[in-house]
Amino acid sequence: MIQILVIGSEGQLGQEIQNRCASVKDSQFTFTSLETLDVTDSTKLTDTIRKQPYKYIINCTAYTAVDKAESETELAQAINADALKIIGQASASIKAKVLHVSTDYVFNGTNYKPYTEDDDTCPASVYGKTKLDGEQNLIQYNPDSIVLRTSWLYSTYGNNFVKTMIRLGQERDELNVIFDQIGTPTYAGDLADTILHIIRCDLEESIAFQPGIYHYSNEGVASWYDFTLAIHQQLGITCEISPIESKDYPTPAPRPHYSVLNKTKIKDIYQLNIPYWKDSLNKCLNQLNA
Ligand SMILES: NC(=O)c1ccc[n+]([C@@H]2O[C@H](COP(=O)([O-])OP(=O)(O)OC[C@H]3O[C@@H](n4cnc5c(N)ncnc54)[C@H](OP(=O)(O)O)[C@@H]3O)[C@@H](O)[C@H]2O)c1
Repeated sequence: MIQILVIGSEGQLGQEIQNRCASVKDSQFTFTSLETLDVTDSTKLTDTIRKQPYKYIINCTAYTAVDKAESETELAQAINADALKIIGQASASIKAKVLHVSTDYVFNGTNYKPYTEDDDTCPASVYGKTKLDGEQNLIQYNPDSIVLRTSWLYSTYGNNFVKTMIRLGQERDELNVIFDQIGTPTYAGDLADTILHIIRCDLEESIAFQPGIYHYSNEGVASWYDFTLAIHQQLGITCEISPIESKDYPTPAPRPHYSVLNKTKIKDIYQLNIPYWKDSLNKCLNQLNA
């Protein structure tokens, strides 16, 4: 049996991975959550990783409260960056391969075309900076790691933009939504499929595990305004939505104005057909309704 450890398995991505773990044949998954393994406890983190001969470790933990991170810098640093040094060291000591998730917020959003993995990083927020430190720590301490940078993640689990917009749309007659931030919504179920696809390819020896940084989001481009319109249209919510500029909705952490990711590398290497964001949104909304 192939041993696979999933850390932070109660978050949006972690739960989508739990739902799909049967797709990796002859494998045994171990799932940890904040309750069973706090990644800021470096001794316990090291012991947990070294307890089994894990072949793969999937890290789904993160400090994801982007605005709160501006004032809780130390905690964000501990979870998003320092823990990755420990995961890197411990995984390398048992020769495990790591799949880790990072963010479009490692860029400052001043680009005019989709960001490639080779573009210079320049995070504008504490969250983005700590996530970038985490990527670098992991790759330094375990070069046999894959970092998947993604954007605008949502799922049927946890709190996310989709659920907030459904709730607000049902409560209110009018909503103001930002239209000058452009990115791509990503269904966590599709990201989970991709992570498990990479593992299956390696196990079946069809495509070797190729360490490094990859960009992954759904296909297409949207503003938060477009995203909200699509959510409401698909659910028949009739609330009036007005586009506003970022300057009219100030937040403690600055947001990138443009954070579309170029996915050519992952599509070419892992032969992926990535779903269009509206199709994946539909899939997620159908599951929420069910
Ligand atoms: N959400 C987005 O829009 C977005 C966008 C781009 C990239 N990403 C990245 O995608 C990945 C998955 O994000 P997600 O949306 O699935 O995040 P999420 O739903 O917030 O899940 C993160 C998980 O980590 C857990 N966690 C927090 N602190 C921990 C600690 N000290 N020890 C152990 N576990 C801890 C959380 O537990 P609790 O829930 O109990 O606190 C939660 O279960 C992350 O790396 C994130 O940075 C997310």
